[in-house]
Amino acid sequence: MNPDNQLKEYTQRCQARVEAALDDWLPDENILPQRLHQAMRYSVLNGGKRMRPVLTYCTGTALGSDPDTLDGPACAVELIHAYSLVHDDLPAMDDDSLRRGKPTCHVEFDEATAILAGDALQTLAFHVLASDERMTASPANRLEMLRTLTTASGSHGMVGGQAIDLDSVGKTLDLPSLENMHIFKTGALIRASISLATLATPNVDTEIVTRLDHYAKCIGLSFQIQDDILDEESDTATLGKTQGKDRQNNKPNYPALLGLAGAKQKANELHQDALDSLDAFGDEADLLRALSLYIIERRH
Ligand code: IPE
Ligand code: IPE
Ligand code: MG
Ligand code: MG
Ligand code: MG
Repeated sequence: MNPDNQLKEYTQRCQARVEAALDDWLPDENILPQRLHQAMRYSVLNGGKRMRPVLTYCTGTALGSDPDTLDGPACAVELIHAYSLVHDDLPAMDDDSLRRGKPTCHVEFDEATAILAGDALQTLAFHVLASDERMTASPANRLEMLRTLTTASGSHGMVGGQAIDLDSVGKTLDLPSLENMHIFKTGALIRASISLATLATPNVDTEIVTRLDHYAKCIGLSFQIQDDILDEESDTATLGKTQGKDRQNNKPNYPALLGLAGAKQKANELHQDALDSLDAFGDEADLLRALSLYIIERRH
């Protein structure tokens, strides 16, 4: 099978797997408070690409882990991601009305419900990591997984990046500052998706952990650069979110600073760097290689 088809088939299997697990963890919408639970389910089970869970499964299986032990970490990163999107779309932040091809949570429900749904998705992520009985990581590794996800999500990670993003409205950032913002707001959670998989697997060689972490840093940044490129050159129907929002909101991004060609070149350099960091692996890392390419070639 060619690598594209192999990745497509693998991705579909991961999506089905994580969606079934998320469905199990999310409270039923008939349970009180119903509106909150409806908003939580609406914001998670609404057709995202599930890139972060795919990375967790892909890394874990490359290292020889049983996929059953990866469902918990995969759900946890996707729950944090879904919460970050609900809050990112709020009027006080990016003020977006479309997400994954549907009205954003605060438009479909209301602002207060969207804030609370985000809060509850965040805490559910840590509940899953702390209590999933199918995870076989040692107590020390499970604790380290919790620490990894809290750091990646908080003020030294995604939330910190979002704060920098909001503070940068209308400003021209230099390249190191823009890179720093992207590393925080998007890179940190993508990096955690891979770290959680290495922590879920017993006895992974430290050299392997370091190489995978470098790969994660490269694709974390290229992922947000491609998001910026798509914001500039795609269309709303394909994206499932409003095209041109960065420009409209005066957000500094890669195409604004480097031009589209410069942004694409930077994404490509990061892809090459990601591939180099997988040099020591054989064909068990082919899906990770294909994922890095997918990240810079995706159209939504
Ligand atoms: C969008 O993430 C927000 C960013 C961090 C760039 P995704 O492109 O992964 O969004 P979904 O989950 O597929 O909707
Ligand atoms: C969002 O970045 C990063 C998050 C932490 C949610 P963007 O604001 O560019 O994401 P989109 O384009 O709205 O998905
Ligand atoms: Mg934003
Ligand atoms: Mg946004
Ligand atoms: Mg964007």
